[in-house]
Amino acid sequence: MFAFIYDTLSSLGYTHPLHPTLTHMTIGLTMGAFFFALGGKMSRSSPMLMCARYCLTLALIALIPTALLGYMDWRHFFGGAWLFPFKAKLGLAGLLLILLIVAGLFAEKAQRRNTAPLFAYLLCLLCVVGLGYFGGELVYGDKFAAGVSPPPAVETEKPAATPQLASKGAEIFSRNCTMCHSVETPEEGIGPGLQGLFNRETLPVSGRPVSGEAIRRLIRDPYKNMPPFPNLTREQVDALVAYLETV
Ligand code: HEC
Repeated sequence: MFAFIYDTLSSLGYTHPLHPTLTHMTIGLTMGAFFFALGGKMSRSSPMLMCARYCLTLALIALIPTALLGYMDWRHFFGGAWLFPFKAKLGLAGLLLILLIVAGLFAEKAQRRNTAPLFAYLLCLLCVVGLGYFGGELVYGDKFAAGVSPPPAVETEKPAATPQLASKGAEIFSRNCTMCHSVETPEEGIGPGLQGLFNRETLPVSGRPVSGEAIRRLIRDPYKNMPPFPNLTREQVDALVAYLETV
């Protein structure tokens, strides 16, 4: 849907997700709001309380484009797959929006008495910590929890059928699949780890027999939460299968 934006950026050499470029503004400003409010309350300093309110307003302004870019990245890089970390992030972002507004309204009233509604600021802070946590879960998640290191380059008995096709497949995999699957572990990340996939008898989630045909079908018509990849051509899918046979 937003492909033209990402295509234009990648033609300029920018291939990353866009959300992380803004998200720290919202996080930083919400932290700033809490700590200025805390300082203001402790030292009874009204300029500090004022500063807390300004930070809050800026956090609210930053939240809107940050959430929009998050939505775009989710569609583009994760195919809009409805996975738990996204549900959590969406819920928290909605909550943060409400809390920032409520805290702002409280702050306006409290300012006249020269106090800060610290609890409201604290809830906003907890919300951004939660958002950051689930963002990290998406990027690093279980991939790193298992202390994964690249497997040693041992010779396997698998036929090195067509190394060229497999290396093309590796490239396609890294562009389309690595955000959810690791080939360095069989451990579950966002999706199941795919190391040694073709040594197994059955696919890890659906339990269907492992075969090139099963993978081809999966990519067109995934089992549950995985997005489909209608843009991959038949040759690209063949390359992917050839690659998966080597991992
Ligand atoms: C947005 C995350 C995401 C992306 C991207 C993704 N997958 Fe998946 N994949 C999943 C999830 C989640 C599952 C678990 C099954 C389900 O919920 O559909 C899964 C399951 C699988 C399985 C096991 C299926 C089964 O029947 O047990 C294979 C094999 C697989 N994916 C391969 C791929 C390949 C190859 C790509 C790249 C073309 C890819 N996946 C891209 C999330 C993803």
